[in-house]
Amino acid sequence: MPGTCVIGLQWGDEAKGKIVDLLTERHDVVVRYQGGANAGHTVVTGGETYKLSLIPSGILREKVRCVVTGGVVLNPKSLLAEVDGLVARGVAVGENLMLSDRAHLMFPWHLEEERLEAGALADGEAIGTTMRGIGPCYRDKVGRSHAIRLGDLYRGDLRQRIKKIAADKNRLLSALAGSADFQPIDPAAVHEEATGYAERLKPHVADTTAYLLDTLEAEGRVLFEGAQGALLDIDHGTFPYVTSSNSSGVGISSGAGVPARYLNKLIGVAKAYSTRVGGGPFPTEQDNPTGQHLRDRGNEYGTVTRRPRRCGWFDAVAVHYTARLSGVDTLAVMLLDVLSELPEIHVCTAYEIDGRRVTNFPSQIGDLRQARPVYETLPGWECDITEVRRWNDLPENALRYLDCLRDLVGRPIEVVSVGPDRDQTIFA
Ligand code: GDP
Ligand code: IMO
Ligand code: MG
Repeated sequence: MPGTCVIGLQWGDEAKGKIVDLLTERHDVVVRYQGGANAGHTVVTGGETYKLSLIPSGILREKVRCVVTGGVVLNPKSLLAEVDGLVARGVAVGENLMLSDRAHLMFPWHLEEERLEAGALADGEAIGTTMRGIGPCYRDKVGRSHAIRLGDLYRGDLRQRIKKIAADKNRLLSALAGSADFQPIDPAAVHEEATGYAERLKPHVADTTAYLLDTLEAEGRVLFEGAQGALLDIDHGTFPYVTSSNSSGVGISSGAGVPARYLNKLIGVAKAYSTRVGGGPFPTEQDNPTGQHLRDRGNEYGTVTRRPRRCGWFDAVAVHYTARLSGVDTLAVMLLDVLSELPEIHVCTAYEIDGRRVTNFPSQIGDLRQARPVYETLPGWECDITEVRRWNDLPENALRYLDCLRDLVGRPIEVVSVGPDRDQTIFA
């Protein structure tokens, strides 16, 4: 069983980092295959908290090789800052980090484009991106003519390419800015910075597709770490309020360059409730004291941007859809402890749209906007569960709640998390 995958089933921040960290022990390689510095994955161990963004969460364990593949958009500056931060805390980063020469690079024009477009409305509401240049960089990847990949940093024509792209980008930025100020791109400065990054990154640069295929053919154990969540998938999520990569299970093969035959086990990660950062419809949102209670108990503030996360009840219509879409075998239900003080807990079992009861997740944002959740109400357990370590020691009402999620999503629950620490985990 060489390939295991961890996929977020909601709108991101499902505590994928914690699950990846736990599973890393049993793997040789951990892979990040889509997204970029928009991700913020938290691992808490022995009282130490690590926040990882571009580097796979496997970096915290010795003897594990961490691979960033061609599906990721790489910001060299953030990556090197992350490496420096880890090294300063005594984490070894050397041969254990491989970066794909196919990965597309983030340049200052991407950040400036996103800044000038911020607040650009999609369907009347801002997407509320992380402002890490993700959309503009993926746009250039698909457009091809203005893209620069990591491997291009080592080609003789880099100066010329930057000069040509910068000239076009300055015209674009000027048009986007209109009468507002913008920071024109200086191609010589960009080239100088890029050659500095090229030198520092060189020991890590490799053809990771070949490396992963060799590893999998030799039965090496590979763990694929999803970023964001399936509802933010560019093709299958709540478009246009999504990110710019395939963040559901369907993105693993294309992002990593690994055929589906090696993806043997898919673990879907979901919070015991729902959160979302940024704009877009969120049918079970509780913009009220209950939502604030979840935000306080769950410390629901963005890892990357510190924005308060929108909070609401578990949406089984959405998670049933994303579990199917992602080919999930089992579920990890996270942050169950956050619900511990509530006397009653609601779970969304269907939507009402235009007077019709619907259990299929809508493909159109207009329908999702109109969706009124239909709830099943369960009794809370109203006691602390953060010290529980065995399934059967969970309170009866907590077990009842988990059974309800299992039945509605149609997948067995393999892991339950009752606190941020590695130890606060229950295996079924
Ligand atoms: P990711 O992006 O999916 O890796 O998730 P984030 O790290 O952005 O957000 C999850 C947050 O929940 C982090 O702050 C974790 O430390 C924390 N966390 C993880 N599991 C639990 C849990 O079971 N209970 C509580 N209370 N917090 C948790
Ligand atoms: P992790 O990996 C939660 C959201 C942004 C915004 C939308 C588009 O930590 O789960 P982008 O900057 O990607 O163009 O923003 O996607 N978003 C996330 N929300 N967790 C994430 O990552 C996210 N990455 C992007 O808030 O709504
Ligand atoms: Mg996160």
